[in-house]
Amino acid sequence: SHPVIIDCDPGHDDALALLLAAGDPRLRLLGVTTVAGNQTLDKTTRNAQRILALAGATGVPLAAGCDRPLVGELTVAADIHGTSGLDGPDLDVPVAPPADVHAVELMRRLIAESPEPVTLIALGPLTNVALLLRTRPETVSRVRRIVFMGGSTDRGNTTPYGEFNIVTDPEAADIVVRSGLPVTMIGLNVTHQARTTPEIIAELNGLGTRVGRVCAELMTFFAGAYRRNFGFTDPPLHDPVAVARVLDPALVRTVAAPLAIELTGTWTRGATVVDLHHRTGRAANAEVAVGIDVEGFWRTLLEALSRYT
Ligand code: BDR
Ligand code: CA
Repeated sequence: SHPVIIDCDPGHDDALALLLAAGDPRLRLLGVTTVAGNQTLDKTTRNAQRILALAGATGVPLAAGCDRPLVGELTVAADIHGTSGLDGPDLDVPVAPPADVHAVELMRRLIAESPEPVTLIALGPLTNVALLLRTRPETVSRVRRIVFMGGSTDRGNTTPYGEFNIVTDPEAADIVVRSGLPVTMIGLNVTHQARTTPEIIAELNGLGTRVGRVCAELMTFFAGAYRRNFGFTDPPLHDPVAVARVLDPALVRTVAAPLAIELTGTWTRGATVVDLHHRTGRAANAEVAVGIDVEGFWRTLLEALSRYT
């Protein structure tokens, strides 16, 4: 199975992404690291601990990372994920303590110890990942690929052209996409096709397990948040799409393209500038998601979630 580390900021969709990764035998979840994003670092860490406990994966090492972006202040997404970062279900479970090291150090160790190159799946702002690349360049050759949920080939969700994870830490995203490592961008243009319909929520409930019930409650809260903020229901399930791409590449179609992060811009800081038609003459530095097998995605997710008893 494919060794992965997940860096995340749970977050409703991060929670389902963790459950997918821990539940699908095609992935080996070496560790989980947390970053400030959807909520403050203490909350995203606590939430990640809770989800690992719910998954029965308390043996997976977890470490907290950066509590703010590389530059500027943190703006959390309480309007989407609530004050806890994971509002909705009752998640009062006994949790395992986090590791006594920084996320960047845990990533370094896990990558150094892995006999095979490791894929990093980043589901929040790219602060920890950028810091790893800048402070531990010797690790880089053992990273197989960085697959991140963030950006878009079209419009944003936090500013007109900016997606939340990239807008929260544009400098970190810039470091990652210019690192020379193989990078895959899973943007809103595909995640907005993975819509959590009432039928999906019913299927989650129908699993008849605690995991199924918690997921259904998470998605019910998430649907309300999307209705309030964006005026539509059936919320897009962003982060699990990045995990799905790693466990079955055929689920998400990508194209090689030049990708740059807008760091200045009067109105567009944090935008992902994807040169889909190769007009700039720049070399492709990323695989950019352009299509998704929606049915296959849901089948994969529900199958993994059904493994929890
Ligand atoms: C991304 O932002 C967060 O709110 C979600 O968890 C996801 O990672 C979507 O823009
Ligand atoms: Ca996230």
